Amino acid sequence: MNNPLQTGDATRAEARVALVTCRELPLLEDDDRLVIEPLARLGVRAEPAVWDDPDVDWSAYDLAVVRSPWDYFYRYAEFLAWAAAVDRLANPAAVVAWNTDKRYLRELAAAGVRVVPTTWIEPDDVFVAPEGDYVVKPAVSAGSKDTGRYGPAEAGLAAAHVRRLQDAGRLVMVQPYLPAVDTYGETALLYFADPATGELAYSHSIRKGAMLTGPDTGTDSLYVPEAIEPREPTAAEFEVARQVLAATPPGLLYARVDLIPGVDGDPVLVELELTEPSVFLGYAHQAADRFAAAITGRLNRAPR
Ligand SMILES: Nc1ncnc2c1ncn2[C@@H]1O[C@H](COP(=O)(O)OP(=O)(O)O)[C@@H](O)[C@H]1O
Ligand SMILES: [Mg+2]
Repeated sequence: MNNPLQTGDATRAEARVALVTCRELPLLEDDDRLVIEPLARLGVRAEPAVWDDPDVDWSAYDLAVVRSPWDYFYRYAEFLAWAAAVDRLANPAAVVAWNTDKRYLRELAAAGVRVVPTTWIEPDDVFVAPEGDYVVKPAVSAGSKDTGRYGPAEAGLAAAHVRRLQDAGRLVMVQPYLPAVDTYGETALLYFADPATGELAYSHSIRKGAMLTGPDTGTDSLYVPEAIEPREPTAAEFEVARQVLAATPPGLLYARVDLIPGVDGDPVLVELELTEPSVFLGYAHQAADRFAAAITGRLNRAPR
């Protein structure tokens, strides 16, 4: 079948796009739904599709855009196999495999990016509590799940958290708690592919308030609620984001660079989100149009 957007053929089918989500959010987050209407204006029918719903025919879509499959880390191998089996996935399956495991932070650090200092604890390693306040989190996770903050008086709770993750065979990350997140917050810079060039172009940014109040209590919710507002990044933040994206695989539909000021005040990378970032379309003028244009550009560039 020809790509319907490349022809003027009046008999052509409407392009179809799946917005990939999970069972707990079968209709997507409200913010992700904001892209549906601009896509419709561009002649593209977009609809939610649950990644592990056996009734979905992924081959019926011209593109599947990963949005909110936030339960994937419970069945990580299954999720990666699903991604690899979807022909036209954005971001691509190889990127999803690389980016859902925070070991990519090591590669970015090796490429010269300022990354939050991290100690990696394998399932057989012995955990020694660091000084000061610190964060314990798994290398594969999303939505602040299984992530906790600890102080000098909480070494026992931290050790129990690390042990719980180790017992589940998970790689554990321990990082100094960056206190600037409590005041300045976290800056997330959003980039969408330029429909003309396919290269990532800056769209907008948000500020996210601090997420960690204390030890991990094993919350049952899909993700921890976030306090979001628009933000204009500093020149230093733009520069770190530029370095991050320069060290990242090409061919991306979207990227989110999450930064927190380090102890010297300069931004450090906490997370590069190429898989399931909230893209905060409701927080910037025409962000939904830019995301829709990026998706349409991808349809034109990658005929089925
Ligand atoms: N080293 C850190 N210092 C302060 N806050 C942190 C640190 N690491 C994570 N956090 C907080 O925890 C949240 C979730 O951690 P993150 O690494 O982004 O994982 P994910 O979003 O994949 O769950 C961040 O948004 C931030 O608020
Ligand atoms: Mg994050």
